[in-house]
Amino acid sequence: MRILSGVQPSGRLHIGNYFGAIRQFVELQHKGHGLYFIADLHALTTIREADKLRELTHDVALNYLALGLDAGRATLFRQSDIPEVTELSWILSTVTPMGLLERAHSYKDKTAKGISPDHGLFAYPVLMAADILLYLSDLVPVGKDQKQHVEITRDIAVKFNQTYCKGFDAQSGEGGVLKLPEPMILEDAAVVPGIDGQKMSKSYGNTIELFGPEKDVRKRIMSVKTDSTPVEAPKNPETCNVFALLKLFAKPEEMADLRTSYLKGGTGYGEYKKKLAELFFATFGEARKRYEELCNNEDYVDEVLRQGAGKARAIAGQVMDQVRQVTGLR
Ligand code: ADP
Ligand code: TRP
Repeated sequence: MRILSGVQPSGRLHIGNYFGAIRQFVELQHKGHGLYFIADLHALTTIREADKLRELTHDVALNYLALGLDAGRATLFRQSDIPEVTELSWILSTVTPMGLLERAHSYKDKTAKGISPDHGLFAYPVLMAADILLYLSDLVPVGKDQKQHVEITRDIAVKFNQTYCKGFDAQSGEGGVLKLPEPMILEDAAVVPGIDGQKMSKSYGNTIELFGPEKDVRKRIMSVKTDSTPVEAPKNPETCNVFALLKLFAKPEEMADLRTSYLKGGTGYGEYKKKLAELFFATFGEARKRYEELCNNEDYVDEVLRQGAGKARAIAGQVMDQVRQVTGLR
């Protein structure tokens, strides 16, 4: 089974990225061949400073390794190291209906916010489809917000196969050149709230960074938004951002105790935040140490990406041979 996913280097990674995506990558690397990449071409739609893009791309590689992806087992690579992906993206765009892209949430959300869309933003799902289809991926672990992109990928793959592969059966997915992928969503942690209670996202400035300086992390945790219930009064765990974040870290028994304590009252939000900070550092302490070590070992990280690109390109080359054949480009 081939498992593929990517993260954009559009900012420093945060606990939403970990619980919504990378934790699954790490678990899944034992269940099949994992291909995990850094979506630097996608990040061009938001990052327009060369040094910043380079820095953030390198940082995602460090994050992958520090959080437990094993370069000996999984293939880690940079999207732009595989030129075939932009070739496939163009080919796919010629069978992609405009309406399919006009319905994409990510595009609609950004235009609704008043961001004037460029073609890169509009075509974003087509490049993502190319990422997935180029390696004949079976499973694509992503957060809930990316599910529609994987569905769009399936639609594009069906279109391509129907157009170019005679024996293709859309029901079973058999007989095509491009394999139809399945999304995999970790429902439990489907949306991690940010410190303001909205979805945690690099673009909302509401994140708790995984590898930020300790002082900053504590400060962010202490500033998670809560209501003004007084210390002695009972508190509602269901609507509390701190409680939602604690759930990501604490064991079920510990959560049961915390729930009782919320309902009883007598403990201030500050105490729960301190507990959250304690759990954060207990959970990510090891990874943060590894991150520091990797920061001093640039050559190793570059070598991992170089080897990963070699492996990914070998697969991409085979798929593109077939794509070029059936389309008549060769
Ligand atoms: P961001 O919104 O911070 O820019 P990305 O869109 O780059 O994050 O997402 C990278 C991965 O992390 C995706 O699989 C996405 O679904 C997941 N992810 C991002 N934010 C969250 C969140 N708040 N909760 C759960 N998963 C998330
Ligand atoms: N769009 C994804 C995100 O923002 C990143 C991504 C790009 C991706 N290509 C992909 C994820 C292919 C999974 C598969 O999170």
